[in-house]
Amino acid sequence: MTTGICTERVAVVTGAGRGLGRAHALAFAAEGARVVVNDLGVGPDGTGGARGPAQQVVDEIRALGGEAVAHGGDIATADGAASLIATAVDAFGRLDTLVNNAGFLRDRMLVNLDEDDWDAVMRVHLKGHFLPLRHAAAHWRAEAKAGRTPEARVINTSSGAGLLGSVGQGNYAAAKAGIVGLTLVASAEMARYGVQVNAIAPAARTRMTEQTFADTMAAPEDGAFDAMAPQNVSPLVVWLGSSASAGVTGRVFEAEAGRITVMEGWRRGPTADKGARWTPAEAGETALELLAEAESPQPVYGAR
Ligand SMILES: NC(=O)c1ccc[n+]([C@@H]2O[C@H](COP(=O)([O-])OP(=O)(O)OC[C@H]3O[C@@H](n4cnc5c(N)ncnc54)[C@H](O)[C@@H]3O)[C@@H](O)[C@H]2O)c1
Repeated sequence: MTTGICTERVAVVTGAGRGLGRAHALAFAAEGARVVVNDLGVGPDGTGGARGPAQQVVDEIRALGGEAVAHGGDIATADGAASLIATAVDAFGRLDTLVNNAGFLRDRMLVNLDEDDWDAVMRVHLKGHFLPLRHAAAHWRAEAKAGRTPEARVINTSSGAGLLGSVGQGNYAAAKAGIVGLTLVASAEMARYGVQVNAIAPAARTRMTEQTFADTMAAPEDGAFDAMAPQNVSPLVVWLGSSASAGVTGRVFEAEAGRITVMEGWRRGPTADKGARWTPAEAGETALELLAEAESPQPVYGAR
């Protein structure tokens, strides 16, 4: 058995058969956690399905002396999410950390974005975060009410696309922005039950990004720091998922290569109050004055 900052804890990681989720699952196990490795084994656009990837990661964790079980359900269904949480409790007797990570892309410019591609991406990311969160939250609330207030942690996966926008990713950006809103609400609602909820916006070389970043994200020659390896994102996730992160909740972190950034979100900027209704002309004049005082937004990814 491995000991570390997650010894005695049980972590569930969705979409952990590949990419970032796999790296997180292995990193939790390396810090002593017992891990439920969820993955539906779908293709890059969400089609198909196979149990192989989840089981392979379980085999890797066991080969390294850790404890893990596979869960092959779809986290965007009520049954899949309920059985995911039940798997942790049945296999290991408890649940401490939920990492919502599973997802896929259907990139299109808005004018070409089909309703199916909108629905599929909103479903896997936004509903696929909500449902496991909801079932985990119900479990932790019951534990708290039974006098066993947990030190529970949820790490949600947003994206720079959701925080700043990204050309060609209207569906994905909307879902990932929604995940930030969900994170803020869950953090506020669940604090009383001992649950902390944060989000990350990662960047790493996975099958999701290897084409987009083919030149800049290639693996380096031997010995150099592999900046875009998904394993570089996991240490922050593991710390957020441990009891060591006590007091940190409702925050969004960008995590990429060797860099961790606190994302500072929407806050009230320049403001004016007439104390009565504006005319449209007045409202426009005032809006322009306020904009002149305000900070400019950071650019949308891919915008010219
Ligand atoms: N790679 C990046 O640079 C990057 C950047 C920003 C955000 N993200 C986010 O990080 C997360 C992980 O992405 P990745 O790059 O590792 O991609 P990936 O394709 O390597 O891994 C995603 C995994 O999720 C699984 N999955 C998809 N739908 C599922 C479902 N309904 N139920 C269970 N499993 C399902 C897939 O089978 C796959 O193994 C995603 O939420 C992604 O949007 C990644």
